[in-house]
Amino acid sequence: MEKAPRAILFLLLIVGFGVAQNTTSKGDEFHVGVILDLGTLAGKVARTSISLAVEDFYSVHRNHRTKLVLHIRDSMGSDVQAASAAIELLENYKVQAIVGPQKSSEVLFISNIGNITQVPIVSFTATSPSLTSDSMPYFVRATLNDSAQVNSIALLIKAYGWREVVPVYEDTDYGRGILPSLIEALQEIDARVPYRSVTPSSATSEIITQELYKLKAMQTRVFIVHMSPTMTSLFFTKAKEAGMMNKGFVWITTDGVANIIDSLDPSVIEAMNGVLGVRYYVPKSQELDSFTIRWNRMYQRDNPDESPFNKLSIVGLWGYDMIRALAQAAEKAGISSVTNKQPQSIKNSTCLDSMVISTNGPDLLTAIVQNKFRGISGDFDLTNRQLTVSVFQIINVVGRGWREIGFWTVNSGLSRQFNQTGLKITGPALMIDLNPVIWPGESTEIPRGWEIPTIGKKLRVGVRTSIYPEFIETFRDHATGETRASGLSVEIFEEAVKRLPFALTYEYLAFDTADPRSKGSYDDFVNQVYLQKYDIAVADTTIRCNRSLFVDFTVPYTESGVLPKNSPLRAEISRAILNITESAKIIQIEKKWVDSNSHQNDDKTDGSDAITFESFGGLFLLTGIVTACSLFVAVLMNGYKKYQQNGGSKGDNQNECGHEKKGEDGDSQGEQRDPNINDMEKQATLPVSHSLNTNGDQLPDSKDNDICCRCTQNNKATSLTHIGSQIIHRGDKSTRSSSGSKLVPT
Ligand SMILES: *[C@@H]1O[C@H](CO)[C@@H](O)[C@H](O)[C@H]1NC(C)=O
Ligand SMILES: *[C@@H]1O[C@H](CO)[C@@H](O)[C@H](O)[C@H]1NC(C)=O
Ligand SMILES: *[C@@H]1O[C@H](CO)[C@@H](O)[C@H](O)[C@H]1NC(C)=O
Ligand SMILES: *[C@@H]1O[C@H](CO)[C@@H](O)[C@H](O)[C@H]1NC(C)=O
Ligand SMILES: *[C@@H]1O[C@H](CO)[C@@H](O)[C@H](O)[C@H]1NC(C)=O
Ligand SMILES: *[C@@H]1O[C@H](CO)[C@@H](O)[C@H](O)[C@H]1NC(C)=O
Ligand SMILES: *[C@@H]1O[C@H](CO)[C@@H](O)[C@H](O)[C@H]1NC(C)=O
Repeated sequence: MEKAPRAILFLLLIVGFGVAQNTTSKGDEFHVGVILDLGTLAGKVARTSISLAVEDFYSVHRNHRTKLVLHIRDSMGSDVQAASAAIELLENYKVQAIVGPQKSSEVLFISNIGNITQVPIVSFTATSPSLTSDSMPYFVRATLNDSAQVNSIALLIKAYGWREVVPVYEDTDYGRGILPSLIEALQEIDARVPYRSVTPSSATSEIITQELYKLKAMQTRVFIVHMSPTMTSLFFTKAKEAGMMNKGFVWITTDGVANIIDSLDPSVIEAMNGVLGVRYYVPKSQELDSFTIRWNRMYQRDNPDESPFNKLSIVGLWGYDMIRALAQAAEKAGISSVTNKQPQSIKNSTCLDSMVISTNGPDLLTAIVQNKFRGISGDFDLTNRQLTVSVFQIINVVGRGWREIGFWTVNSGLSRQFNQTGLKITGPALMIDLNPVIWPGESTEIPRGWEIPTIGKKLRVGVRTSIYPEFIETFRDHATGETRASGLSVEIFEEAVKRLPFALTYEYLAFDTADPRSKGSYDDFVNQVYLQKYDIAVADTTIRCNRSLFVDFTVPYTESGVLPKNSPLRAEISRAILNITESAKIIQIEKKWVDSNSHQNDDKTDGSDAITFESFGGLFLLTGIVTACSLFVAVLMNGYKKYQQNGGSKGDNQNECGHEKKGEDGDSQGEQRDPNINDMEKQATLPVSHSLNTNGDQLPDSKDNDICCRCTQNNKATSLTHIGSQIIHRGDKSTRSSSGSKLVPT
C-alpha cells in the first residue's frame, strides 16, 4: 500500500530534476497579448490551439532561454474593445507581440499602435485584402488574404461554362474586401456580374428572405457567397426555405465557410447540400492526427457546455503553427530590454503614457517573417508578411459532410488529383477534370447557370412586316387581339425556340411603322431592343456596311475562336439556329416559303440587291463560310487600317476595327472613303436584349473581341445573309450583333 506512492514520488523527483537541469533558469518571460472574440467559434478554437501550442513547444524545446507567456483577452466582437485590450496589454505587460486581432476591422487600429510601438501584430483570421502590408509595416498575416482564392473560383465558373455570376456578400470589411479582386477575376474570364447582393451585417431572417426572393426572380442562377459562418448558416437555411437549393441553382462559397464546414450545424449542412466550396488544403499527417486528439480533449475541458459539433478547423491549425513561429522568433530576437522611451506621437496623452517602444521589435518582426517550416497546417511560410498559398481544395457539400471534387493550384489550374511532388494532369485542358458534383436538388446535371425569369413574364419578341412578306409578315388576330407573325424568319425563330433545352414563352409585339417619331426605319426597329421594349426582335433587317461602321458585330458560332458573350439566351438561340441550319428542317422551311412565293419573289428581287431565296440553298455552308468571312475581314481590316493611315483625315472616333462607336444617327465616312466596302449585306436577325430583366446597369466589358464584318464587292453584287441574333448593350451605346453569315453571289 505504501510502496506505490513512494515509487511515484521518486519518479517525479527524477523528472523534475531533469527538467531543472535543462532549463537552467525558469526562462525569460516573453509576454504576448492574445486578442480573440471568445464568443465566436473561431475564437474558441484558436484559444485552445494557442494554449496547446505553447505547451507543446516548450515540452520539446526545454533549453530555450525565452518562454512565451500568453495574456488572453476577449474582444467581444467589438473593435473598440479590441483596441482597448491592445492598449491595456501594451501598458500593463509591455507585450512584445500581439496575436490574433480576429476581425479585419480590429486589425486596422491595432496595427497602427503596433507600428508606433514597434510591436508585431500577427493575425491568423483577418483575411480582408484591404489590409495591405504597405500601410501596415508591423502587421503579419498568418493566413491567406481572400483574394488568393478568386482565381480558383473564376476558373470553376469558366470550367462549367457559366456566363453570369452574382456575388452575395455581407456588408462588413470582410465581406466587401474580396469584391475588387473577385470582379476583376470574373472579368478576365468574361463572366458578367449583373447584380451584387449585399446583406447588412445585422440582417434578420426577413431581410435575407426578401433578398433571396429578389435573387430568385432574376435570370442568373450562379451565386458566390462570401459571408461569415454565422451569416452563411442563416443564409442557406433561408435559401432552402425559399426553394433556392433546388435543381438549376449553383452556389459557391468562399473558404471562410468551406474551411470550417465540419463545424456547422447538421441542419445547415443539410440545407447546403449541392454547394461547391473552395477550401484551404491541409495535407494529412500523423502530427495532425495526434494533435487533433489532444485538441479535442482540451477543447472539451475548456468549453464543457459547447456544441458537440465544434471541431478543430484550419483556424486552429494556423493558430498553432503561428505560435510555433512566434516562439522560434522570440528565441532568436530575445527579450526586449525595456526602455522608457516613449513613442513620439502619443506623448503626453492621458492613457497611453506608459506605453513603450519595443527596442527589439524590428528584429522580432524579421525573425517571424523569416520563419519557414512544415507545420500541422502544411507549409508555413510567412515571407511577404503573409502566408503563401498555392493550393486550394474544391469541395462539394453532400449528405452530412462533403466530398473532395478536385484541386486548384497556381500553376496547373483545376485538376482532379493533386500529388505532393507535382500535379498529375489528367485529361485535356478544356474538359472539366473534376470529380462529378451532386448539385442542389440532388441533380447530377451541370446547371446551365441561368433561367428565364419566371415571374409571369413572357419574352417580348418584336416583329415588323417586311416588304418581302415571305420573310416576315405580321397581322392582328381579331378574335384574340394578339399579334401574330408568319414568314421564313418567323418560322426559323419558332423552330429555334422549340429546340431550346427549356421552355420559352413569348409573345409577338408588332413594330408600329406608322409612328411618326420612329420614322419606321430598321434602325429604329433595332433600337427598340436597345431600349428594352423588346427582349428579342425577329426581322429581315438589312444591315448595310455603313451601318456596321457604328455598330459592333461579333461573329458568334464559328469555330474561329470568337493562426459569344453576355446574354446567355443569345448563345442558346444561336445554337438552336445552328441546329436547324445543320438539319434537314431548313430544307422544309425553305421549300415551304420558296415554292409558294417564288414567282412573286422573282419580280421583286429583279435587279435589286435583295436576298433571293436561292441564297438559302447554301445555308449548310454557313459555318465554313463565316470562318472564311472572318479571315477575309481580318485581311480587310488590315487594308482598311493602311488606307486610313494613308488617307489620314478625321478618323478620330474609329477604333482599330475600323468601326466608329457613334450614336445611332452618326454618319459614316468610312464608306465614302473605301469604295471596296460593300453596302449590300442583307440579314435576317434576331436582336436579343442584353439582359432579360431590369437589373441596374452592368459593368461595361473591357475586352470585346468585336469583329466588324465587311465584304467586298468586286464588280458583282455579293449578298451576305445573316441569320442569327443581335445583342444590344445598354451600357455603352454600342450595338453588338451576333450572326451566322454566308456569302452567296447573286
Ligand atoms: C535536455 O536537453 C538535451 C539537449 O538540449 C536533450 O537531449 C535532453 O533530452 C534534455 N533532457 C530533458 C530531461 O529534457
Ligand atoms: C509607422 O511608424 C513610423 C515611425 O513611427 C512612421 O514614420 C510611419 O509613417 C508609420 N507608418 C504607417 C504606415 O503608419
Ligand atoms: C493577396 O494574396 C494574393 C495571392 O497570394 C497576392 O497576389 C496579393 O497581392 C495579396 N493581396 C494583399 C492585399 O495582400
Ligand atoms: C509633454 O510634457 C512635458 C513634460 O511633462 C512638457 O514639457 C511638454 O511641453 C509636453 N508636450 C506637449 C506637446 O504637451
Ligand atoms: C506525382 O507527380 C509526379 C511528378 O509529376 C509523378 O511522377 C508521379 O507519378 C505522381 N504520382 C501519382 C501518384 O500520381
Ligand atoms: C439538334 O438538336 C437535337 C436535340 O437537341 C439533337 O438530337 C440533334 O443532334 C441536333 N442536331 C444538330 C445538327 O446539331
Ligand atoms: C448607307 O448607304 C445607303 C446606300 O448607299 C444610304 O442610302 C444611306 O443613307 C447610308 N446610311 C448612312 C447612315 O450613311
